Amino acid sequence: MNYKSALNNKIFEVISQASQELNIDSYVIGGFVRDLILKRDFKKDIDIVAVGSGIELALKVSDLLPKKPKVQVFKNYGTAMLRFEDTEIEFVGARKESYTQDSRNPIVENGSLEDDQNRRDFTINALALSLNTTNFGELLDPFNGLEDIENKTLRTPLDPDITYSDDPLRMLRGIRFANQLGFAIEEKSLESIQKNAERIKIISGERIVDELNKILSTDKPSVGFLLLFKTGLLEIILPELTALNQVEEIEGHTHKNNFYHTLEVVDNICPNTDDVWLRWAALLHDIGKAPTKRFNKKQGWTFHGHEFLGGKMVKKIFERLHMPLNQKMKFVQKMVMMSSRPIVLSQDTVTDSAVRRLVFDAGEDVENLMTLCEADITTKNPSKFKKYHNNFEIVRKKIVEVEERDHVRQFQPPISGEEIMEIFNLKPSREIGILKEAIKEAILEGEIPNDYQAAYDFMLKKAKKLGLKINAC
Ligand code: CTP
Repeated sequence: MNYKSALNNKIFEVISQASQELNIDSYVIGGFVRDLILKRDFKKDIDIVAVGSGIELALKVSDLLPKKPKVQVFKNYGTAMLRFEDTEIEFVGARKESYTQDSRNPIVENGSLEDDQNRRDFTINALALSLNTTNFGELLDPFNGLEDIENKTLRTPLDPDITYSDDPLRMLRGIRFANQLGFAIEEKSLESIQKNAERIKIISGERIVDELNKILSTDKPSVGFLLLFKTGLLEIILPELTALNQVEEIEGHTHKNNFYHTLEVVDNICPNTDDVWLRWAALLHDIGKAPTKRFNKKQGWTFHGHEFLGGKMVKKIFERLHMPLNQKMKFVQKMVMMSSRPIVLSQDTVTDSAVRRLVFDAGEDVENLMTLCEADITTKNPSKFKKYHNNFEIVRKKIVEVEERDHVRQFQPPISGEEIMEIFNLKPSREIGILKEAIKEAILEGEIPNDYQAAYDFMLKKAKKLGLKINAC
């Protein structure tokens, strides 16, 4: 099969010419070829393999390009990278390699194209297109990767035990590809992942999270998470989630399986947000439920304080997986901690003051919180489902109304502490806090509108009760 017409980007012509001048063979390989055949969007990242020095080839290519782009050389890995237009081109020499048992550092030797294809993760990622003048565009497919694409199968070129043990991250990559592409992982390969799952422990948190983020970015992340669960990887990576996989019954009372519920919530949220952090919040929103689960005869099963504990657990997970401990983490924490607020609202009569408090506490994140909580409605009881959704509509409308009237989303106290000190001739003291808090409470309760005059009049009454006098001068 020939794909010459698909290689119409000028860069391939230049690489071909550079290879000819250096008298080496070169090929485009990996994701570019796979996605070309799958007709997926081109992802601005091209891998070139040279049967010879990848670094020399990159330098030559740069030399032949009019703008002579800078070549980044990674000597230790024998690779080089340059940018052409908005594409990153990675060059590597064909290698034969195997990894040591306890690390990812490979022992590398030069090899043929086929050696190099052999050491790649999946047959669909080992497809190569020739850039040599004699057979430009020809597909080199020694492991029937094309057939695997047609059959939607993920298969390793070598015995899966060798491929996964060489680089355990590939177990996650396989599951991520299965999820992204709608492919099935070959049975033998799944068994091997199960067997080698423990080896994921040698992989850094950053690389694991990269894959989890890609799984969470698919249309239906539950597919990936169920595979992670089935193979035992999830238990190692996120034991807080697998701990939710339990249903207990005492005296006829059961509770829902919060693991499967969580996966449903994650799938539910996907059509409504592409924000991977909000999807993380959906994934982690119930993690506090396993450690807080209790039973008592009066109430049945309870999970008191699970939101608060869940928020604390979020930080531990982010630390363990080397995720960013910045605003993103704080956002996920906040969403988890507030995750029951709107649903509680929607079960009762929706009052203005409850909505005002919700907007005050959630601030700019109130819409995201609503999106999370709507996804959390997984009841199979149609009348409850309808009632909660209707109430959410009411909450959403009230959020807009309350915000128009009281502007509590980015609440600024209508009277500042300095002003209070001046009015009552006070030094920094408890009274100032009491007055500020009382004004805020009155606004949130709807006793007064959020404006200066109303707050001022209210403050005078409150101050009188505290025995404070207005500054005479
Ligand atoms: N590869 C591999 N084992 C890995 C990572 C990568 O064998 N652990 C090989 C595969 O041949 C892959 C190529 O290197 O196709 C490029 O890797 P990368 O750019 O990470 O992935 P892509 O397959 O291009 O796909 P994506 O960008 O979606 O991750």
